Amino acid sequence: MPEKIIKEALSSREKAYAPYSGFRVGAAVITGGDKIYTGCNIENSSYGLTCCAERVALFKAVSEGEKDFKAIAVVSDSEEYCRPCGACRQVMAQFGAEIRVYMCNNKGEYEVKTVADLLPDRFELVFGKGCPE
Ligand code: THU
Repeated sequence: MPEKIIKEALSSREKAYAPYSGFRVGAAVITGGDKIYTGCNIENSSYGLTCCAERVALFKAVSEGEKDFKAIAVVSDSEEYCRPCGACRQVMAQFGAEIRVYMCNNKGEYEVKTVADLLPDRFELVFGKGCPE
């Protein structure tokens, strides 16, 4: 199963728009219904507006009505496994702590962990006392 999303993440990396860092990232997420959505990092001259590959893939999927995700693969050009940033971990957590995260190197080799492993004690919005309903 991971081979397909890893292959998709590797090819999505080719679309990366990274003129500032030169660090190309590709991601691919697979839904409960086995649909795959891809993403690449998209940088901006106002650096803070850059969006990571993982969030591009997830936002594409969610904007198409998907909310159920089994796994996500992420890869860069590096020989090191590509680790999702904290912001992307929180966005993944929104859709499920059990999502498997395949952190890949440029050869497609990987280490896999769940979102729960990658972001313990994550923020959850709790409505109730002190919070508007
Ligand atoms: N980047 C990602 O695409 N995903 C991550 O999880 C971490 C960082 C991108 C953002 C930026 O374009 C480049 O890598 C260098 O930080």
